[in-house]
Amino acid sequence: MMDLEDRKPWGVGVAGLGTVGAGLLSFLDGNPAFAPAGGLAYVSGVSARSRSRPRPFDISGLPWFDDPVALAQADSTEIFVELIGGSDGPAKAAVEAALKAGKPVVTANKALIAEHGAELAALAEEMDVPLLFEAAVMGGVPAVKMVREALVGDEIHSISGILNGTCNYILTEMEATGRSFADVLSEAQRLGYAEADPTMDVGGFDAAHKITILAALAFGCAPTFGAAEIEGIEQVELLDIRMAKDLGYRIKLVASAERSMHGALVRVHPTLAPLDHPLARAGGALNALFIEGERIGRIFVQGPGAGAGPTAAAVAADIADVIAGARRPVFQAPADTLAPFDPIDPSKMLGRAYLRFLVRDEPGVIAAVSETLAEAGVSIESFLQKPTEGAQGVPIVLTTHAVAESVLTAAVERIAGLPAVLDRPRLLRIARI
Ligand SMILES: NC(=O)c1ccc[n+]([C@@H]2O[C@H](COP(=O)([O-])OP(=O)(O)OC[C@H]3O[C@@H](n4cnc5c(N)ncnc54)[C@H](OP(=O)(O)O)[C@@H]3O)[C@@H](O)[C@H]2O)c1
Repeated sequence: MMDLEDRKPWGVGVAGLGTVGAGLLSFLDGNPAFAPAGGLAYVSGVSARSRSRPRPFDISGLPWFDDPVALAQADSTEIFVELIGGSDGPAKAAVEAALKAGKPVVTANKALIAEHGAELAALAEEMDVPLLFEAAVMGGVPAVKMVREALVGDEIHSISGILNGTCNYILTEMEATGRSFADVLSEAQRLGYAEADPTMDVGGFDAAHKITILAALAFGCAPTFGAAEIEGIEQVELLDIRMAKDLGYRIKLVASAERSMHGALVRVHPTLAPLDHPLARAGGALNALFIEGERIGRIFVQGPGAGAGPTAAAVAADIADVIAGARRPVFQAPADTLAPFDPIDPSKMLGRAYLRFLVRDEPGVIAAVSETLAEAGVSIESFLQKPTEGAQGVPIVLTTHAVAESVLTAAVERIAGLPAVLDRPRLLRIARI
């Protein structure tokens, strides 16, 4: 075994000392012999917004940089680690500065990679330096390496995942405790599981960033965040969680990417997954991923998608790859050959759906709803009616057989206009998996 003093030391400049940055510093401090690749990673400089903020890790002995761009460019920085976050601003400026200076970059920033991945990959490849982002998707679960490297010998048809732990926690708690979305969200904020501004998480944007990255890696295209169709969990009601369960489903925020001969479809929306499906069983803050490939068949992985320890482990693995000299294109293929992302029109997609209508409790209403669906060519698979105590009207719920989304939404609009229908109909998709 190589002695410590024979190992080449690598100065690691760490910008961002929040949850992930502090996790990485603690890890490197406790593992002076890191990395497994035969080099020796040490923290050569740090940057954050406030130098005086109390931190779980002593930074007094580390060179401090007010400006992360200066840290990225410093001679002492041989590997630049960006843990600031945000698709633009200081994170992007510092990553660009590091790449332009010919420094390998490791980042956990999904927004940056999903929104600017193609241009950053081109810059990294032009400068012949790695740009690695294992921690950006599913935290501690090696999803990026799995899709980019281990599965490159197969043709991936679809990826679906629970990629946001906060949403999964909220939906799990709503089902377990019978509390509303708003109630569980404010508790999660109090406990520090959800951000003060939860929009990125509960609005589905964080999951959309992650599935955009996985789609690019799996389908050999440039990440195209603008093509993702996004719906969050803000409108998920307890009633739907209960009705879905009675029908044999659990509501999850599923991020999916599918490929067909017509193109690709990337989207995030609340989805009914059969109760016995692995995605339905991943509860709490867990992340889970389900992949279908031509030759491999089906793969399922789950694990911690966030937190200082798991995310820092993924960042450390990327640092080890840099030290080992591992080199491949940033995405599946060289940046200048990445195929353009060809989005499929979702209205043409066939799928099953869950529909809930709040109707007046009077004769003939159910017949009117089913006739409208039948006229439009939507066939009903199952039907459920449950009087709810004290509620105005009666909710009726049904699931459909597979139908084109455009046909379904037109039929739902017509039903919404029936005089006996009291509220906006609720439409949720049923997982195709
Ligand atoms: N948290 C997770 O579990 C997790 C999981 C996977 C991926 N990620 C990704 O990892 C990245 C970091 O996340 P985090 O949760 O660690 O964020 P965080 O706790 O909010 O920390 C952000 C850090 O960036 C620093 N910062 C902000 N503006 C800066 C500036 N202009 N110059 C220098 N430093 C600046 C902050 O400084 P101050 O401390 O002085 O305010 C803070 O230390 C994000 O891209 C996130 O999406 C996080």
